[in-house]
Amino acid sequence: MCGIIAARLSGAAAPALVEGLARLEYRGYDSAGVALRTGAGGLRVVRTIERVAQLERLLRDDDTLATTGIGHTRWATHGGVTERNAHPHRDCSGELAVVHNGIVENAAALRAELEERGHRFASEVDSEVIPHLIEEARQHGLGLADAVGAAASRLEGAWAVVVLDAEDGRVVATAHRSPLVLGRSIDGDLLASDIGAIAGRVESFRALRSGDVVELDPLGSEPRWTQGGRAVAAPLAMPCTVSNEQLDRGDYPDHMAKEIDEQPAVAERVLAELLPGIAQGEPWRSLALPDFRRIAVVACGTSLHAGIAIAEVFGRLAGIPSTAVVASEAASTYLEEQTLVMAFSQSGETADVLRAVEMLRTPGNPVLAITNAPHSTLARTADAVLPCHAGPEIGVAATKTFTAQVLTGTGLALAALGATGRMPRERVLAAVEDLRRVPELLAQSLRVADRFVPGIAGGLLDAHGFLFLARGAGVVYAAEGALKLKELSYRWAESYPAGELKHGPLALVEAQTPVIVLDGADARLAGNIAEVGARGGRVIRIGGLGADIPALGGSPAPIDAVDWLGPLESVVPLQVLAREIALGLGHDVDKPRNLAKSVTVE
Ligand code: M6R
Repeated sequence: MCGIIAARLSGAAAPALVEGLARLEYRGYDSAGVALRTGAGGLRVVRTIERVAQLERLLRDDDTLATTGIGHTRWATHGGVTERNAHPHRDCSGELAVVHNGIVENAAALRAELEERGHRFASEVDSEVIPHLIEEARQHGLGLADAVGAAASRLEGAWAVVVLDAEDGRVVATAHRSPLVLGRSIDGDLLASDIGAIAGRVESFRALRSGDVVELDPLGSEPRWTQGGRAVAAPLAMPCTVSNEQLDRGDYPDHMAKEIDEQPAVAERVLAELLPGIAQGEPWRSLALPDFRRIAVVACGTSLHAGIAIAEVFGRLAGIPSTAVVASEAASTYLEEQTLVMAFSQSGETADVLRAVEMLRTPGNPVLAITNAPHSTLARTADAVLPCHAGPEIGVAATKTFTAQVLTGTGLALAALGATGRMPRERVLAAVEDLRRVPELLAQSLRVADRFVPGIAGGLLDAHGFLFLARGAGVVYAAEGALKLKELSYRWAESYPAGELKHGPLALVEAQTPVIVLDGADARLAGNIAEVGARGGRVIRIGGLGADIPALGGSPAPIDAVDWLGPLESVVPLQVLAREIALGLGHDVDKPRNLAKSVTVE
């Protein structure tokens, strides 16, 4: 889960590399580095264990005027966070520089073999076997592209790799189960892990398929695409629809603040895409998937919570049985025939999800990807794709993509249930009308959160841990609130169905332990709240009028909640709470420690 970039331009490469790396930092921020090809045919390698901003400072004095270079931002797996372990890595000659995203699973065996043949390693990272394998293949007479292909054929795991040859400035890239795109412009070619990194510099791009090797020659002629040494057609070119404005945080202090605030507009956009066709069974019909008897949602983290929320909608509306599969545990899941597998992933690159999909898919159990990245590996491997239209999300903590996933999945549920005759048309139409309230419901919740949450959060900074409770449809939202708080505040935060409290977690409650309760309409919650109060816990209710955070719709609040959907609007104060506490503790809310946005390792 690193970010890689390469540029072969007519002008200076360093600014494009640094800009791209800054945009890729969400993929990992343990270290950053670039290799630039100097005019004299050498390499200038600059690496730092600080952030990309420091790399930019180190490159300010760059007088190489290099037009070709590669760059990397790292999320450490093999080997600690040191400059030595930062990419790019080189072969023994020092002339080949390589950046890699992914995991080389057989790195230890390859390294032992290469060391035995006299290769000298300078770092502890798995990726370093790659330049040495390429070096050997070239010693056997292969050209750079074929040598990269030969080296890749020795690897096990997942990789996106870019290689720069200092001698002639040739750049070669290859990928296997790891994202990499090639964009072209009149100024030259750019490669990146994510189109956002080069948006604004290219108008269209091609996504590398597994096994593709693409070579950019220094003279700027058409890139040469091969697989297994044989020429193949280039992948389809797609327009780059990401704008610089979407990637900038504007006047917001951080991306997370912007992304929380965008949720009403995202909801509006998602619903504008979906609602007009739902009565006719769209988008379900256009996916051309077979009918199903059950659904299974498969995902990780926040996307799993969105999936569970949707599974529950299918159940509440039409009694469809469902299974929620934690993607990393899919091996122990057995699905019945005619199960529709719905894979939720913001990035579409989560390794656990990709592996789970491989394991769960059968001819009778097709996979539908619900993702914010319609060109991702997940989208390409699934039987059908439904995009989420959240726009780029930069903060590592998922916010607006959760809301977009829930609404996209809900639109799909209504369309599918209507089209397969499980919901009468009038009920579908009434549900569509309900959904029209959601953008304003979220906006209302946002106004309340902005007004009430900062004061409450300020009083919670000394708490070692937090409990989140709810009942029924609120349980999965409480789980999402707890995940967000853990991720950003680095404090423990556990969520439970409120009825479970007395079966164990109540022991955690002591004087002033914060207990966040999503207070829906269930009368039994009052008893659970009293149990906490009696032990000195500090109860914070997110509910309707009169609650500590009156963010849930419903009379007498102006906008009524959508009961069958569940308390989607509760996610807003939960996100704001996590962010406020993290800021109060002095944490970087966009880049929480130890995490990365796109988790491409299992
Ligand atoms: O890209 P994905 O949606 O597949 O990512 C899944 C999780 O890694 C992700 O939701 C993670 O839990 C978030 N950082 C939570 O905010």
